[in-house]
Amino acid sequence: MPAIVLVGAQWGDEGKGKASDLLGDSVSYVVRYQGGNNAGHTVVIGDEHYALHLLPSGVLSPRVTPVIGNGVAVDPGVLIDEIDGLTERGVSCDRLLISANAHLVMPHHRALDKVTERYLGDARIGTTGRGIGPTYGDKVARVGIRVQDLLDPGILRQKLDLVLREKNQVLTKMYNRRGIDADAVADEYLGYAERLQPHVADTALVLNRALDQGEFVLLEGAQATFLDVDHGTYPFVTSSSPTAGGACAGSGIGPTRISKVIGILKAYTSRVGSGPFPTELLDEQGEWLRKAGGEYGVTTGRPRRTGWFDAVLARYATRVNGITDYFLTKLDVLSGLPKVPVCVAYDVNGTRHDEVPMTQTEFHHAVPVCEYLDGWWEDLSQARDFAALPRNAQNYVRAVENMIGAPLTGIGVGPRRDQTLQLRPLL
Ligand code: IMP
Repeated sequence: MPAIVLVGAQWGDEGKGKASDLLGDSVSYVVRYQGGNNAGHTVVIGDEHYALHLLPSGVLSPRVTPVIGNGVAVDPGVLIDEIDGLTERGVSCDRLLISANAHLVMPHHRALDKVTERYLGDARIGTTGRGIGPTYGDKVARVGIRVQDLLDPGILRQKLDLVLREKNQVLTKMYNRRGIDADAVADEYLGYAERLQPHVADTALVLNRALDQGEFVLLEGAQATFLDVDHGTYPFVTSSSPTAGGACAGSGIGPTRISKVIGILKAYTSRVGSGPFPTELLDEQGEWLRKAGGEYGVTTGRPRRTGWFDAVLARYATRVNGITDYFLTKLDVLSGLPKVPVCVAYDVNGTRHDEVPMTQTEFHHAVPVCEYLDGWWEDLSQARDFAALPRNAQNYVRAVENMIGAPLTGIGVGPRRDQTLQLRPLL
């Protein structure tokens, strides 16, 4: 049986949590393959809202084994708080597996994330300040500390001493901050070790065995295509690979085992942090979208930047991820517009671009070329199948589908599980 990848096709916050939760009923394992607690998924079941940061949304389905893959940056204190919060609400996290190879977010990573952002001034990335960039930086520089190091106090201490020797110089001499005390960190992290040890596993082995036995594995990306460190709007990106290729590296599942890549697209666009955003609305329409769509960060509470749907971005996402199916979310938010603008191309200094331009300079100057589709007034949140949508909403969906390079499988018309219109089987 195959592995399936679920990936955001814009700048994050497309509503992956809901799609993942829907698929959770049919799969045995849900795996987070990159990112850390910079992410935030909201899953609504009945009247209960769950805001998940590090845990894969599969944790809410009792038959699913949630897995934190090797590609994730794990802040153990945050993870334990999240586990405790869910346990208090009656959601068991006993089945959770954490890769022994995942990297740990350490106090020096959080400290450096904050000071380097401040140092960048106007050129700042607008990070979530959770230490994610410095954690991945150390991973690649081969001075990272991994989950398995929690199981060997001697090694943990050795690695910590080595890395703090350098980081404390940077913090104190360059940024005029206080140094970090290795004893205190070692004590704190060994406390986490006790709590997390029962969950630590060779997750790549577990997942490949599950696939051998015919089980479905869902690989869930955090962030999204345009925040990918290779394929996104660099340098205004996160420090990992949310795109489908990253699912293999971040889980230990080979590409030949992936049979489907489901892209999640919001019926409009949003972004948090800095960086180019061609369809961004800086006027009252942007504010209207933000309010109507509840576009405030789950992790940071920051108001998100908002803009119209951008088909050029979607086509790029289809390409770099090999998307086979799309799930369109939050269609209900667009009710009440006389005309619904859709960006179909860009104008860059007088030249039309039907695809994302090659260079960052051109992308920064991209002005959207829009088509204006007829809007609808009706509330869509009660619709349960495509035929129940007003004619103009149906036309909007079909027009978008024709522009994005892959078929639509489902449409979200509200936050609840049951507010989903299925156009084709998800699996
Ligand atoms: P970092 O991941 O905290 O380093 O932040 C890098 C960029 O990614 C910033 O623009 C963040 O706002 C953005 N970002 C990180 N996580 C998310 C997410 O889950 N949704 C949307 N944007 C995110």
